[in-house]
Amino acid sequence: MMASVSYETVGRVAVVTVDNPPVNALSRVIRSGLSDAFGRFQTDESADIAVIIGAGRMLIGGADISEFGKPPQSPSLPDVILQIEQSAKPVVAAIHGMALGGGLEVALGAHYRIAAPGTRLGLPEVKLGIMPGAGGTQRMPRLVGADTALKMITSGTPVTEAEALQSGLIDQICEGVDIREAAIDYAQSLLSDNAPARPISGLPRATDSEGVIQQWRAKLQKSLRGEVAPLVAVDAVEASVQKSFAEGLKEERRLFLHLMDTPQRAGLIHAFFSERAVAKLPEISDIAPRDIARVGVIGGGTMGAGIATSAVLNGLAVTLVERDSEATDKARATIAGNLDAAVKRGKLKAEQRDAILTDALKTVTDYGALSGADLIIEAVFESMDVKKEVFAKLDEILPRGAILATNTSYLDVNEIATTTARPEDVIGLHFFSPAQVMKLLEVVVADKTAPDVVATAFALAKTLGKTAVRAGVCDGFIGNRILSHYRTAADHMVLDGASPYQIDKALTDFGFAMGPYQVSDLAGLDIGYATRQRKAADAHPRDRYPTFADALYHKGWLGQKTGHGYYLYEKGDRKGRPDPEVEQIIAQARKEAGTSPRTFSDDEIVRRYMAAMVNEGARVVDEGIAQRPLDVDVVFLYGYGFPRWRGGPMKYADMRGLDSILADIRTFAETDDHFWSPAPLLEKLVAEGRNFDSLNQR
Ligand code: COA
Repeated sequence: MMASVSYETVGRVAVVTVDNPPVNALSRVIRSGLSDAFGRFQTDESADIAVIIGAGRMLIGGADISEFGKPPQSPSLPDVILQIEQSAKPVVAAIHGMALGGGLEVALGAHYRIAAPGTRLGLPEVKLGIMPGAGGTQRMPRLVGADTALKMITSGTPVTEAEALQSGLIDQICEGVDIREAAIDYAQSLLSDNAPARPISGLPRATDSEGVIQQWRAKLQKSLRGEVAPLVAVDAVEASVQKSFAEGLKEERRLFLHLMDTPQRAGLIHAFFSERAVAKLPEISDIAPRDIARVGVIGGGTMGAGIATSAVLNGLAVTLVERDSEATDKARATIAGNLDAAVKRGKLKAEQRDAILTDALKTVTDYGALSGADLIIEAVFESMDVKKEVFAKLDEILPRGAILATNTSYLDVNEIATTTARPEDVIGLHFFSPAQVMKLLEVVVADKTAPDVVATAFALAKTLGKTAVRAGVCDGFIGNRILSHYRTAADHMVLDGASPYQIDKALTDFGFAMGPYQVSDLAGLDIGYATRQRKAADAHPRDRYPTFADALYHKGWLGQKTGHGYYLYEKGDRKGRPDPEVEQIIAQARKEAGTSPRTFSDDEIVRRYMAAMVNEGARVVDEGIAQRPLDVDVVFLYGYGFPRWRGGPMKYADMRGLDSILADIRTFAETDDHFWSPAPLLEKLVAEGRNFDSLNQR
């Protein structure tokens, strides 16, 4: 459908409607349409007041993000908004659904604001690495004060219409949901009251700014891990209290254009479009998913209980099977605990929790209770034999058409499928722990999985509020396979002289939520030990083995759960502090391995870690395990704490230059050509002068 802005009059009210599905983004056509409409309004003698409103589900979802990074096209949004604000006749913004970013800035250019129940208003620009650039940083503080403005601008989190009314961001909430009718009534009542045009730019500067700006700056400097946009936005708000409106607007523009040019903006916008692109698979574009209402979960450990929690929280009925009543009681208690946590966080009402526990959740010991389920998710012990046994049993009980999913994190889903007479109904659903919290779901598509089973997995992810990424079958799929490789690179650095603490620090400074040794302590060192044992059979004589990790495991230092891992934890403390005893154990391991320790700069640590991640990422794409580089990026953003503002590992590689990554790998290979062999796809792209993004379009 074509984007348009329409103009009509209802009585003496001009109604200007923005229509640009799906979110009424402020593309060039819309900007010039608005400019024309307000030009017409000024000279239209039949209209005394204007209402600006959005067609469809919202007022305006923001500037057109797909135009970012391209040459600007006039009219600019700040100019259009100034034109609206400078109207001599009053203008009302009618807000329903959402007013985000440039959409809220348009509403701030109006003189009066009315919102429908259920509306969200926000300035989410910092989430895209920019800041409001069409007067938002100057008008917001004048309207609602510096503190509220800074809260909204630096967090990017939208507020409800009730909060907006309380802060003065809007003037009225309409009763009922017909925003158009309510806004026209409101406009008519303003006319009867002779209400004037009331530009926010004419309001005095915020009076609550003393100390507040410094407080926000200090708070953000502490909490941001390398992200720049929120701090630059503070500078812009500061300008609003120090300068005239016109001067402040100029400063806002300057800072906005500066952010537009940063790699962080490119990284965050890549993340925005990639997280939407992962769901667009040609193989399922025309395929209807199967209906899923009743879910069976097998196994009530942390993973099974987490999956069940996620399902019941999102309206699905769950039957969970455990082997005996003690285990079902334990699973029920875990799920109840998870739900309690949701109640505490305000995500769930206490009555809803009670209803879920009595009606939606059944915990049983009999597989027969699963016979009516549409989908079974198996989350039992990670062993091929155990899983095969479960699938053979499921195959007997469930009717054809029920989906049989395994929550394995590395096992061969093709092999599991062979135990059934319906491999087309079998799929891998790899949840991340804690499953009720983590947003990533790897959908592991086996050779014979039917397309509508894949479509159902993606639909399920949506129901559960998760981001699904398609993965092919291999050891570890996308995420854990790549993790295993860069984790090995980190262990090599430890063997060669870097301390785990320096590595963690270098990587958290880079922007990771946690370093690899902090992750080990959180997950438990028994997990890493089990992985090494499992892989021992495939070990190559030239593989270097992190004996220090086994030594910690054998001491029973399993990480946070035992109060001791790579770090030492005081009771109740989750941060931990470095432990000289661990350093001694590592020194011993180096001696045994015959390595002479050397120093590493933080830069070298990051380069090695990232080169390993990108190199294995390239292999995973080349082998079709991930369909595109962007699928790898989304896995790391959602499941592995990768800094969002860097866009993901493959985007990071593109921005640094693939030739630079390849050169690093070749340098590292000079001392270890067993571990460091360049991925053929990386070499090919460099030879052809292309980047990973060139593969994202397919
Ligand atoms: N510019 C361009 N395209 C946009 C857009 C924008 N501001 N906002 C959304 N879209 C596109 C999405 O890419 C998606 O396209 P697709 O269907 O081709 O994948 C489509 O609109 C629908 O968006 P989606 O996010 O799937 O819909 P939703 O209902 O879940 O969420 C929003 C709607 C508005 C909350 C969400 O899209 C959003 O957060 N947009 C960005 C808002 C923003 O940051 N605005 C400030 C920019 S200055």
